[in-house]
Amino acid sequence: MKIAIGCDHAGLQLKEAIKTELARLGLEVADVGTNSCDSVDYPDFGQMAAKMVSSGKAQRGILICGTGIGMSIVANKFSGIRAALCNDVQTAILSREHNDSNVLVLGARVTAQELALEMLRVWLDTPYEGGRHQRRLQKLKNIEDSVKDE
Ligand code: RB5
Repeated sequence: MKIAIGCDHAGLQLKEAIKTELARLGLEVADVGTNSCDSVDYPDFGQMAAKMVSSGKAQRGILICGTGIGMSIVANKFSGIRAALCNDVQTAILSREHNDSNVLVLGARVTAQELALEMLRVWLDTPYEGGRHQRRLQKLKNIEDSVKDE
């Protein structure tokens, strides 16, 4: 599984910690940046990672900014993206089980590193439940398709 990862300046330190964990888990990573502490705009990096997942070049994505809010807004503009801004282990698990989230979004200024790494591990390990949730995902896709046609 290839994972696209991106951040802004506020998320750089957490991105590096997450990359170390992904390497430890033996997962392939495509890092779209940013790679310095200089102030940048989260849409520039969010869209690069989201496009990789939307196009199938990566199977999952991880995006990090200060709060996670900006990155989740960007990512959810792309077709097929179900980006989940998670704040604890339970939301990370439920975003997989119920929403089949394919992008995990984290807020580096609001979530401690150790918790973020725990959320990452459960998000990677938790399968999608399907069943009644599939009907809801299909409705999301229908909305996406109808907006495209407008
Ligand atoms: C950058 O200061 C900050 O606005 C950004 O990281 C993010 O939190 C936006 O949603």
